[in-house]
Amino acid sequence: MARQVCSAPGKIILFGEHFVVHGSKAILCAIDKRVRVTAQRQGRNTISIKSNMLSTKLHPNIPYRIVDKRTRPFYYIAQSLGITNVAINIHSDLPSGAGLGSSSACCVATAGAALSLSDIKRSILDVSINAERTIQPNSSGADCAVCTHGGIVEYVKDTPPKQLRIPIPKDLKLIVADSGINHNTGEMVERVRHIAQKHPKEFSALSKKADSLVQMVTDSINDIPKLGHLARSNQLLLERIGISNNALRQMIQIADRHSYGSKITGAGGGGCIVAISDETNAHSTLNALTDAGYNSFVAQITKTGATTGALHKVG
Ligand code: MEV
Repeated sequence: MARQVCSAPGKIILFGEHFVVHGSKAILCAIDKRVRVTAQRQGRNTISIKSNMLSTKLHPNIPYRIVDKRTRPFYYIAQSLGITNVAINIHSDLPSGAGLGSSSACCVATAGAALSLSDIKRSILDVSINAERTIQPNSSGADCAVCTHGGIVEYVKDTPPKQLRIPIPKDLKLIVADSGINHNTGEMVERVRHIAQKHPKEFSALSKKADSLVQMVTDSINDIPKLGHLARSNQLLLERIGISNNALRQMIQIADRHSYGSKITGAGGGGCIVAISDETNAHSTLNALTDAGYNSFVAQITKTGATTGALHKVG
């Protein structure tokens, strides 16, 4: 029996995280670290899910809401596509809970592989956003959008993602550093929702600033020093909505000394920061963050979004 395969990239939110949950625009890019999922029919009426972190076999008729959160999105995908006998294998290059889209890339790649097994015609993006919302009901869908489409994507919640058809800036070097602090995206989104409810006027003013910042980004994507400056402005907004902390501020300070500017990427509270640099300062930024003890790397933007195919057993 053919095994269906789907691979999806991780992501960096360049600008606009959190505000995107409340209707503002965000800009994201796909990066060259991927998740690969295979899905294969099996004899038993069982949904089996295996990754380097878990291995579980579940009866296909359990209400997905009571399935463990770590496996729920994958179980939901199989169940919602009417696939009752499948072995799903997940292999990820992405650290989980670090803000690099591990959970979204897993949802996208599982949706792609499972859709290839089924006769149901739905889009990978639609299935993966619904899967992610089984654990994070307020997810904007931005992460799944860029993991599906690849490249650089402009996203507004509940609207089709707009792929920016621009050449990826050649000299742009994105330095990613991991705080090593695991975060829970749902909790951070909830924290921001509280702030937005408690201080609606202030939050709406910050959202407007976030929106106009994203507009400036699309107008100056090839101006790397300006992008860095905009990243610093974005970080100031993220500080105001309570998703930063001393550990992340310390990383930002180090990165800002060497790069054009840096910010938290993703939900915050932990996870990663991204520093905007080019050939002239990429090495010094990377070295400074590495010397300070943070796991850091240069992320390449990839145009390749979700790709699907079938693997046939030879012989
Ligand atoms: C998480 O990677 C991005 C957030 O904006 C949440 C979302 O968009 O659903 C914090």
